[in-house]
Amino acid sequence: MSTMDEESVSLKIAELRRLIDYHNYRYYALDDPELSDADYDRLFRQLADLEKEYPQLVTVDSPTRRVGFAPLEKFSPFHHEVPLLSLENAMNIQETLEFDRRVRKLLATESEIEYVAELKMDGLAVELVYENGVLTGAGTRGDGSTGEDVSTNVKTIRPVPWRLFSAPGDPPLPVRLAVRGEVFIEKKDFEKLNEQRSVRGEPPFANPRNAAAGSLRQLDPAVTAARPLRVFFYGIGTYESQEELTTHHATLERLKGWGLPVNPQSRLCLGIGAAVSYFEELVEKREYLPYEIDGVVIKVNDLAAQRRLGEKSRSPRWAVALKFSPHEVQTHVLDIGVNVGRTGIITPVAFLNPVLVGGVTVKRATLHNIDEIGRKDIRVGDAVLVHRAGDVIPEVAEVIASKRTGKETVFTMPRQCPSCGAEVVRLPEEAFHRCVNRNCPAQIKGSIVHFASRDAMDINGLGDKIVSRFIDEKIIETVPDLYRLRLEELEHLPGFGEKSARNLLQSIEASKRITLSRFLYALGVSHVGTFVADLLANACGSLEKVRCAPMEELLKIRGIGEKVAGAITAYFSNPQNARLVDELLALGLQIEDPQPLSTAQSGFWPGKTVVFTGALSSMSRQEAGREVSSKGARVTESVSGKTDLVVAGADPGSKLDKARKLGIKVMDEEEFIRFIKP
Ligand code: IVH
Repeated sequence: MSTMDEESVSLKIAELRRLIDYHNYRYYALDDPELSDADYDRLFRQLADLEKEYPQLVTVDSPTRRVGFAPLEKFSPFHHEVPLLSLENAMNIQETLEFDRRVRKLLATESEIEYVAELKMDGLAVELVYENGVLTGAGTRGDGSTGEDVSTNVKTIRPVPWRLFSAPGDPPLPVRLAVRGEVFIEKKDFEKLNEQRSVRGEPPFANPRNAAAGSLRQLDPAVTAARPLRVFFYGIGTYESQEELTTHHATLERLKGWGLPVNPQSRLCLGIGAAVSYFEELVEKREYLPYEIDGVVIKVNDLAAQRRLGEKSRSPRWAVALKFSPHEVQTHVLDIGVNVGRTGIITPVAFLNPVLVGGVTVKRATLHNIDEIGRKDIRVGDAVLVHRAGDVIPEVAEVIASKRTGKETVFTMPRQCPSCGAEVVRLPEEAFHRCVNRNCPAQIKGSIVHFASRDAMDINGLGDKIVSRFIDEKIIETVPDLYRLRLEELEHLPGFGEKSARNLLQSIEASKRITLSRFLYALGVSHVGTFVADLLANACGSLEKVRCAPMEELLKIRGIGEKVAGAITAYFSNPQNARLVDELLALGLQIEDPQPLSTAQSGFWPGKTVVFTGALSSMSRQEAGREVSSKGARVTESVSGKTDLVVAGADPGSKLDKARKLGIKVMDEEEFIRFIKP
């Protein structure tokens, strides 16, 4: 190659880098892109291709180098010259007004204070150091004075400029600047990331904040580079510059001018009332924001006043974080539909404008039954509060009636089953509507999914989607058909392939040896959950005995009452069900009878009521629950006078206090493990 060539290539490369940096700035800092994503990608690829062809022209500050750093052994400490403090929280408006009163008292003024109200981004704090406009280091917050040096990783974050912009005529760039901001992941990117993780069999991130933190604190920068991290800057620490900054608002403008992304939602507010209105607007807007926020931050605008107010040991006196209530989020009911369950029960379901509640995207919420809809007066189009406490299924907590526009519509139960068109009835003694057709495809599908589920036959790879497909394509029509599936039928299904077909058949085959308790649960008899199934299996000892047990016999089992016993005898005396069980046995199912209980086991557990509280470290609560259920005990959620034992893991809640008050026996995890495994 001639020198001329190399020179022109080098010019082209410089031009591409300049263009890419500029378009990064338009996109991330100004949120006002001039190019489509495809055009941007084209520029990027052009640069990458040229650099591949001319490796001698690659420089350390090329945008393509954002991914190419060597992994670290461990993070070095990163020192914050000006401590990175945290914020004092205000839990409600009252506490916010008190904050304002304190500020005015300390500044000895009666007049309204000028504040800047900003979003409190839910991510992790970082500080970036720029020397004469060049990014030279970055660290996490750590304890506020020393964090971890994440310089290399931060350089892989696309919206982070490696060099600050300065336009002709601007004051010179600061000699030294430490900017503070929050690294986060957008909601849609968080969902995509978790989908990818689940495909790869990796555990999902609990929420976008954990995903952002986990992505930034990676020893291998290539991993960080592959994660769609974003950042918004909200303040500065060290500042050595010829240019004086006098207000927080002007600081944010300056950061933006230098090409640092600043959240465009911040607002100058005269008086605390205006800042509170900003908060109230955000309560409404929150569901539509592309990222998670957990409140708003209210800051005194005047920097001289900030200095006079100073700080306490951990937080400045010039700022407060006004937080949203944690597990309740506002959204809208887009539609109400129904779901037909395996027992024919028709459950109304609200389809919601998707919102993140405690880290989980909620798109639908069960409305239980028509009476519940009436009681809460939930209509299509309503603004509602959705909550999710712990592992509980999301629920519509209440309608925000003040937001009614008059366009909302009342839901009525369909008269015909949406799956099979059969009549929908409501028996006088029931709260539910049901589809009367026992051969309704939705019911069959539901019972097959239940049969294959983890606590039942545990057939790996036979979830909702696959079962629907098999039914739609008429590959199976009944539960026993599962055991007649052949490789030839499956491997030609589009998107299935020989490997997944073989795996599925193997799981089905493996499910043929099954414990009595699991089999009873898998049949889907009304009122027979895992707990009752365990009771039945242990008390009867064999499938034959369960099948033939008369009511009186079943009623002798502690924990089984009239309703449950009635459902069991009704199930097994129905010839269609009897045929189903026989057919399964004929297809080779081997039901293992339960082991007789040892005296040690039978001594304590049968009939006892046990409550778990706090996190167990050696097993999940569900596993612990199964363990004690299999010994004949009953697991309940809340502590009452009827509770016999409370097992307390780490961070036990109020249940432990209650148990102590009631004088109920309490065990810690270690004692519990010793007790169940004698
Ligand atoms: S100002 C000295 N502004 O909230 C005060 N913090 O406890 C420094 N955060 O993890 C904080 N958005 O990273 C400020 N607009 C915002 C913020 C914000 C999110 C985070 C911050 C830190 C926590 C403060």
